[in-house]
Amino acid sequence: MNKYLKVGIDKISLHVPRFYVDLVELAEKRNVDPNKWTLGIGQNRMAVNEANEDIVTMAANAAYKILTEDDKKEITQVIFATESGIDYSKAASTYIHELLDINKYAKSYEVKQACYSATAAIQIAKDHVSLRPEEKVLVVSADIAKYGPETGGEVTQGAGAIAMLISANPSILELSKDSLSTTVNSYDFWRPTYSEVPMVDGKFSTEIYIAIFIDLIEKYKEKYQGDLDRVENMLFHLPFSKMGKKALQSYQTYLADTEKSTEDVDQWLENYETSTKLTKEIGNLYTGSLYLSLLSQLIYGDLEEGEEIALFSYGSGSVAEIFTGKIVAGFKNILNENEVINALDQRQALDLDSYDNEYFKPTYTERQDKIFDSNGAKGFVLEKIEDDKRYYKFV
Ligand code: HMG
Repeated sequence: MNKYLKVGIDKISLHVPRFYVDLVELAEKRNVDPNKWTLGIGQNRMAVNEANEDIVTMAANAAYKILTEDDKKEITQVIFATESGIDYSKAASTYIHELLDINKYAKSYEVKQACYSATAAIQIAKDHVSLRPEEKVLVVSADIAKYGPETGGEVTQGAGAIAMLISANPSILELSKDSLSTTVNSYDFWRPTYSEVPMVDGKFSTEIYIAIFIDLIEKYKEKYQGDLDRVENMLFHLPFSKMGKKALQSYQTYLADTEKSTEDVDQWLENYETSTKLTKEIGNLYTGSLYLSLLSQLIYGDLEEGEEIALFSYGSGSVAEIFTGKIVAGFKNILNENEVINALDQRQALDLDSYDNEYFKPTYTERQDKIFDSNGAKGFVLEKIEDDKRYYKFV
């Protein structure tokens, strides 16, 4: 049976905040050798959100760019992947369903499993559309990765959203029905409900990421023999741009030690750098991070129409999945490359005093009514919080 069911990513878009922090400047302020952050970790800048910008506005702004009036009628599910939830009960999807004017008879909900959840959403969407090819599913992933000042994770912060429309006869990436997942209960990175910032065991988190990658890919090769032989690009969840490379290099060593061929990994390493270009400038998007690597490779890489690629999704805690996709002929015509490149070019550096004094103020730890200045922003913004209800507007 053909493993491709002609269902997958029809459109993809990115929302990146207007402000970033320059990591060379920040390293100097933190008395860290900038080379550690730019070369050792592999990050140049990190995106920071404004007070009027939350996961809802970022997701709505990303999705707004790709949805047509027909899409809005054909969407029957809106799945919001995030680990930066703004409410324990009400799903963030309910706001964007209204803001984007999606048909009333679409269901909408939020999914969570650290950085893995956008992949869970995509797999649900793929299965749904495979059974009902006339319907579409909107998957959005939005997060604010904030570890706190002078923490080990500070250099790996970021913010932004990715929106993807899953449909039959997709224009960008057909998804395979084959995939392999794993769950390993672990405390590498987690966020108890009382805390605005995550707890993280940094070194362990990189070790378990690598160990799970090696275990899963070996199992995948055993289950789907020969399946990865045609794959020249392996894309990664990138909390920082060096992470995937570290996993590939460790796998290379593992293969050499067990006297297996490293040919495929050598090729993946050769093609790896272009998949990291957006991450280097934006930082960790948490749930959207793997799809930021995909977008980066679609824009800057050398992907050929019809070629198969593999994706490694990882979410702390930990759940991971490897799956494959086939690049659709003409994908470049659908990608709005210039929009992504211009959005990055037009960003402004946030001065470090504002970053230190404003960015880390606790956001909503107690009941408070608040009106937000849109501050010249365009698109969806948070207008006010009144009686614990959030109001958004389009400017
Ligand atoms: P650290 O202790 O600051 O850094 O933590 P380090 O000492 O490990 O150094 C990093 C690299 O810089 C090393 O290279 C050094 O040699 C090098 P490597 O051995 O890795 O190749 N280095 C230098 N290079 C050039 N010039 C220098 C220099 N000095 C040192 N002068 C860490 C780094 C990533 C652990 C930290 O930033 C952190 O805790 N980040 C947050 C956690 C994280 O991102 N973990 C990744 C895996 S878990 C994951 O992906 C899930 C996640 O996205 C959450 C979710 O699922 O929701 C995080």
